[in-house]
Amino acid sequence: MSIDARWRTLLSAARTAHDRIPALGNFCPFPEDLRPAEPAPHHIPASDLLVADRGLYAGDATRPLRDAFTAVAPIAQWRETYRGTGIGEDFLSRFGCYCLIGQGGAWRSGRMAAYVVYMPPGLHYPWHHHPAEEQYLVLGGEARFMRGGEPDEVLRPGDVSFHASNQPHAMETGDHPVMAYVLWRNGFQTAPVLSGDVT
Ligand SMILES: [Fe+2]
Repeated sequence: MSIDARWRTLLSAARTAHDRIPALGNFCPFPEDLRPAEPAPHHIPASDLLVADRGLYAGDATRPLRDAFTAVAPIAQWRETYRGTGIGEDFLSRFGCYCLIGQGGAWRSGRMAAYVVYMPPGLHYPWHHHPAEEQYLVLGGEARFMRGGEPDEVLRPGDVSFHASNQPHAMETGDHPVMAYVLWRNGFQTAPVLSGDVT
């Protein structure tokens, strides 16, 4: 099985981030049980928005992973998790997510799943939840993070957001886009569902 060099560079950048950024390593050490897979590329418009985006400002700690996720965008299997939910075509065409480790990614692990999420400016990701515990690390740009029972926060490169099992959370971009590295542990076979209104 031959995995494209862009995927390998991305995996290496993720491993380095887990080694160097305590919030990632503490959530889940980089897995040693990786099994290669061959994801069929699936393109959505958000992939092109990401590649063209010049607004994902980053610092030294997150720039390599930001750039590696962007380089894989043209060959990634972009997800359409919320198709059929009534979330609307604007969200479906502009919200981007693909998997590095897990279903649709280039590797599988029994320990965790790893994704990238990308949102251009001016997009609202409605409240949703899932059984898996989740750790976001902002890689580029910024977004307002909303979590049930906690105050809203604008997070920027290097900032993290933890979501407990089934804790509703939402996200919103304003003038800037955002890219985040997303880790799941415990129960990562179950997809997220929209939560409805959360007050
Ligand atoms: Fe989530």
